[in-house]
Amino acid sequence: MMLRIGSSLIFIAALGLHRYLTHKAPDHEFNTEKVLKRAMTLTSRSWEYGTLVQAMLELYNPPLTVFGSEPFPHAELPLVHDPSMVHGLQYAKTVIQTNNSDLLMDGEGSPADPASLGCAALLIGTNDATYFAAARRQAQYLLGRATRFTINDTHSAISHRDEPSELWGDFVYMVPPFLAAFAVATQDFQILDEAVRQCRLHDEVLGTHITLEDGSVCIGLWRHIASRPAQLPRGVCCSDDNVWLTSNAWAVAGITRVLATLLKWKPTEIDRRNVNYEEFSQDSTQILVDILIKMIKCAMHQARDEGSGLLKNYLDGRSSASAPWAYGEAAGTALMASAVYRLAVLLPDTFATSEFLGWANTIRKAVLSHVDSLGNVSPVADVSHIPSKEPAEQTSEGQSMVLLMYSAWRDCRESGVCGD
Ligand SMILES: *[C@@H]1O[C@H](CO)[C@@H](O)[C@H](O)[C@H]1NC(C)=O
Ligand SMILES: *[C@@H]1O[C@H](CO)[C@@H](O)[C@H](O)[C@H]1NC(C)=O
Repeated sequence: MMLRIGSSLIFIAALGLHRYLTHKAPDHEFNTEKVLKRAMTLTSRSWEYGTLVQAMLELYNPPLTVFGSEPFPHAELPLVHDPSMVHGLQYAKTVIQTNNSDLLMDGEGSPADPASLGCAALLIGTNDATYFAAARRQAQYLLGRATRFTINDTHSAISHRDEPSELWGDFVYMVPPFLAAFAVATQDFQILDEAVRQCRLHDEVLGTHITLEDGSVCIGLWRHIASRPAQLPRGVCCSDDNVWLTSNAWAVAGITRVLATLLKWKPTEIDRRNVNYEEFSQDSTQILVDILIKMIKCAMHQARDEGSGLLKNYLDGRSSASAPWAYGEAAGTALMASAVYRLAVLLPDTFATSEFLGWANTIRKAVLSHVDSLGNVSPVADVSHIPSKEPAEQTSEGQSMVLLMYSAWRDCRESGVCGD
């Protein structure tokens, strides 16, 4: 890469076409190290750590992620002999608690956000029982003790927060991919089933419609948060009925990771007396793909911000309450693009179409023009206020999301599915 940049610089300079370089080569100027360095200085909260760790794994160690070509050798998680050789895992070790606490890190009232570190804990845990035990406590807390959002007598979704009971789109990036990995680590297909069920229940509860520019309605994207009671008293966190880009991008990207697990895990030792795994896997794949298609299509059909070319921070539509906060937002745009590239490789017949990939390329280029020479990504959604009304200069998750987009695009090109 460096060599290629060097030689094309010389070549272009020789032709006296400097302007051609600045216009033509944003992908080649994109400096992942700078974006990562900035991310590290901005990271302090559990989901920010978890997301940055995931971004580092996808950037430096793709075979350790579900997007590698063989992520489950012998139907198990890949064995990591020395986590200190894996940038992302070494970083995760600085924050994961192994002292018998329920959660992998303090979640500030959310048992879900710390689970974003769960895949890393499981990878470290392949060679260090202390970390496996920490991951197991996190999973057991979520599955057995966390607050629930009751749907009916037989179904409930896991609340994103201890209280009140709340479903957030964000949850779907933090928890189901971890549960799916935990299912592999424990060879327990029922936990993978639970991961899929959580995605589906979130879709049922949060799914809503938006109004497009031409006045037509698109059904498929999610409200940011549904709470019980639906109206929270002032000052109680958190309430947001609007269709927030970031939470929808979290959901799409999280479901994509669960889908990758479903498609690539071929358990051999599962208790086949009771389970038709192939049937389960096919049915679940269809459920998740249907959710993804409707979400991505509504995001695709909503008008982008004219000035920036980015997706809008809120997607409800021009005459909605959230319209004043619908500025172009780089973080959620990047995460959406990353998911489309991943899906194109996972299921090319469905997603490697000019419609999906053309859109992903368009929004990726818009994001790239919002990464400055120091590696700062902006404007991005403010993560400290809900609803998120004013753009922030930089956020940890925004930096990570751009890295996730880069790795997904790189891998899509290397697999031959994506062109230039
Ligand atoms: C584990 O360590 C954290 C951070 O030092 C602390 O807040 C927590 O109470 C400890 N948990 C247990 C169960 O010891
Ligand atoms: C409970 O809700 C789930 C999820 O929506 C649904 O599949 C199931 O049929 C419902 N059960 C009853 C008894 O209504």
